[in-house]
Amino acid sequence: MTFVVPEEIDAYSAGHTTAPTDLLARLADETRATLDAPQMLTGTVEGRFLEFMVYATGAKRVLEFGTFSGYSSISMAAALPPGGHIDTCEVDEKHAAVAQRYIDEAGYSDRITIHLGPAVETVERLEGEFDFVFIDADKPNYVNYYEAVLPRLSERGLIAADNTLWSGRVLDEAEQSEGTVAIRAFNEHVRSDSRVVSVMLTIRDGVTLIRRA
Ligand SMILES: C[S@@+](CC[C@H](N)C(=O)[O-])C[C@H]1O[C@@H](n2cnc3c(N)ncnc32)[C@H](O)[C@@H]1O
Repeated sequence: MTFVVPEEIDAYSAGHTTAPTDLLARLADETRATLDAPQMLTGTVEGRFLEFMVYATGAKRVLEFGTFSGYSSISMAAALPPGGHIDTCEVDEKHAAVAQRYIDEAGYSDRITIHLGPAVETVERLEGEFDFVFIDADKPNYVNYYEAVLPRLSERGLIAADNTLWSGRVLDEAEQSEGTVAIRAFNEHVRSDSRVVSVMLTIRDGVTLIRRA
């Protein structure tokens, strides 16, 4: 499935990105074969992008909203410095079980903790600051996730929010589905927030990077 980038450009981009590990390729195959909405998986280009973000920022404490089958968590874990850790939030037991199996097989059980339950509650229970936050769970809660983590970013901490172009539906004024309205509201919220600096990238379905001003 393609989102905002034309299919052939997307394929070219994926073909010129370091290929996923065998484990991630098998995880993607199983996700497509057994889980609903497999297009939620970040995949080759965005997975490598997230890995690069963790690598480049040196993020030690990572928080993810939306584990799904674990592709993005496992991608980011590969770039964690020694002692680094990812807390990832997932509400669906079936998704969490698939992710946990691959996390164990990857040897990352000590680097990634899946928190099963509504992410708003999980983030309240977690303590401390975050160096890198990936927001990729239910769209109506994006503003809540953002507001929960912004005050808890470390000094050079970053937020990456996924799907902010929502397959281009953000531009269609007639389109008023819950997801579209939520993503538009999130994008406006960030744009009008003088506390932050942001950049919206056209990677996959749109990724907005945010830091404190
Ligand atoms: C777009 S997928 C995440 C994709 C994942 N980051 C990846 O790269 O494969 C969104 C996930 O968020 C989960 N989710 C939805 N609402 C949630 C909530 N309130 N709390 C925690 N997870 C939630 C869904 O079950 C789904 O697995």
